[in-house]
Amino acid sequence: MKIDVLTLFPEFFSTLKDWSIIGRAIKEDILNIDYINIRDFSKDKHKRVDDYSYGGGPGMVMTPEPIVDAIDSVKTERSRVIYLSPQGQRLDQDLVNRLSKEEHLILLCGHYEGIDNRIIDHYVHEEVSIGDYVLTGGEIPAMVVIDAVTRLLPGVLSSEQSFTEESHYHGILEYPQYTRPYDFRGLKVPDVLLSGNHKEIERWRRYQALKATYIKRPDLLKKANLTEEDKEILKAIEAELHNRS
Ligand code: ADE
Repeated sequence: MKIDVLTLFPEFFSTLKDWSIIGRAIKEDILNIDYINIRDFSKDKHKRVDDYSYGGGPGMVMTPEPIVDAIDSVKTERSRVIYLSPQGQRLDQDLVNRLSKEEHLILLCGHYEGIDNRIIDHYVHEEVSIGDYVLTGGEIPAMVVIDAVTRLLPGVLSSEQSFTEESHYHGILEYPQYTRPYDFRGLKVPDVLLSGNHKEIERWRRYQALKATYIKRPDLLKKANLTEEDKEILKAIEAELHNRS
């Protein structure tokens, strides 16, 4: 995959190339990232890239020309231009999966009060938000997208299992995990995990995953693809929690 990040702060991303899994994906040529400084495309003698908002109001708006020239410098027919913005579609694992199948992402990071809206209307394929809060710019959201997408690229994680079983991959949360010591300050690992009975362990994990989702993120259960067996398990979970209270 090729990613071009268009930003006023390319230096912000300098650590990514050395960073664990992303660093390895870059070294192994699974991922190729370039950072393009939008300011390099300013024709203003002071290299300005922002101006006052038509109609008045506080804050500066990024001007269209340097942004379009920056996009044009990297764009091909197969590029997908993503603008990171709190007004975008909220990023979730489904969106990450879809983005990970693209050949070329252009991640446009805004600053100041935003960018001239003609860019969004005519040059951006989609707007993506990382959550309902406002950050000072699109750089951190772009990093979030890069991280979430990279780990899904073929060859990045060692076994498919490591992401297929994780939180959100199947729309429910992950089962709890434990490692040594068996007894940590009196807190013991559930015995079923030491039983060697793989069927039992699998059943216990599904129960715990559904229970965690039921307690922490019940909203996910409405969208999840639950089997008939899952629905039975959920009834047992409801009964367990009801009896406890
Ligand atoms: N830029 C500023 N806030 C943002 C957010 N929540 N998501 C994506 N881009 C942003």
